[in-house]
Formats: sequence, C-alpha cells, structure tokens
Amino acid sequence: MLIIAHRGASAEAPENTLAAIQRALDSQVDGIEIDVYFVDGEVFVFHDRYLERLTAHPGRLLDLTAAQIRRLKVFNQQPIPTLSDVLACIAGRCMLNIELKGDVPVDILREHLDQALTTYGFSQEQLLVSSFNHHWLQRAKQASPWLRLGALSASCMLDYARYASDLDAYSVHTCVDFIDQALIDDAHARGLPVYVYTVDQAEDIKDLQAMGVDGIFTNHPQYARNVLEGLPT
Ligand code: G3P
Ligand code: MG
Repeated sequence: MLIIAHRGASAEAPENTLAAIQRALDSQVDGIEIDVYFVDGEVFVFHDRYLERLTAHPGRLLDLTAAQIRRLKVFNQQPIPTLSDVLACIAGRCMLNIELKGDVPVDILREHLDQALTTYGFSQEQLLVSSFNHHWLQRAKQASPWLRLGALSASCMLDYARYASDLDAYSVHTCVDFIDQALIDDAHARGLPVYVYTVDQAEDIKDLQAMGVDGIFTNHPQYARNVLEGLPT
C-alpha cells in the first residue's frame, strides 16, 4: 500500500510548505499530495480558500496579489511555495499528486507538467492530478492526454468506479469515512487503484491494507510506515 504524504508530512511541519515536503521525502514516502490555486498569474500551494486558519491575514487567497502571497507565512513559520518550488524540491524522487483546489488555466498547468518532465526529472507515471471539480480534470486531460487523473470524491456514490473509468481517470480517490469493499473490488476489476484520505490512525491503516486499498494519504507518513511494517510507533 502506497504512503502518500497529505499536504506533505503535515503533522510534522506546516502543511503544503517546503518544510512539510522535505519531511515527507526524509520519510521515504511513495508520494506527496499538495493543493494548488492559480492566483495573479502564479500557481500557489495552499489548501484553504480563506487565509485565517493558516496565516495571520484575513480574507481570501484569491483576492491577494502574488506579491502579497509571497509575504505570508504559514503558521508564522514557512512561506507559501509555488508549484514550481515544489517540483524543484521533489525533483522526481517520488510521485506528486497535484490537487486542483482552484481552476488553473490548462495552458499554465500544462507548462508546469512539461517543466516537471523536462526540468525536474519526473516521469509521466509520477504525476497525478486530482480534484473535486471533474470539469477541470477533463480539461486538463484534453490539454495533456498522457496525464494521470485522480477522480476525487468525498462520498461513495453508486457506480463510482465506472464513472471514474468513463472519466478516463487513472485512480479513484475517496474519503476514509465512506470506504466500501464493493467500491474497491469494482475499481480493481476496472484496473483502477484506490487511494484513500485522510488516514492517520493505526486501526484504519491496517483495515485499509486488509481491504486491498492501494494507497493512503496520511499527515504522518513515518507513523504510517511504522504501522505497516510492524515497527514501534
Ligand atoms: O486529495 C485528497 C485530500 O487532500 C482531499 O481533501 O480537503 O484534504 O484537500 P483535502
Ligand atoms: Mg488535498
């Protein structure tokens, strides 16, 4: 079962920052998941629409300029990186799941993906783009037909695996709260791996492995690794 650091190793360093990415890399993760928005011509790595939880600033991320965003600190500690910063930091050492939280123009996304392949040493198999907005996914795939898509949902709707297959997704990404053996089996029958978020508890990690889940998004990748390998936690 793949261990994918959720927003980087976000239990150990401020989420979606280079510090959290580096902690994840130090834990030899299989993959790293980040959230991105397109703001003022730049792709920033950040989870929330509003700034209050993560920074000392009020208001919405999308209402700031790129220069203002560059001055912010997550939890008063770490700057908000750009997608290019993250690509350079990971440099093909593990899979990268880019979750689109905002609508990134397809040409901008394609430029970044091409940069990942040509400059930062990623293979196509190491890049996975997911979103709760599947219109954006469809457009991203039209612009880069080789692109692996993650069909992300917070629910477990009927025919989810068939739907993901029709979307031409590579994988099904779903919430641990609603994980279902029938979904896993159906996805596997269609050749789709199932990745589950957000999984930080030992009981869940073991149960999901026993169910045949292919990967988990976890805030604490080293802990998850220790649980899976039967090491002290
Ligand atoms: O991509 C999996 C997971 O990150 C989706 O939920 O809100 O943590 O971005 P969220
Ligand atoms: Mg996410």
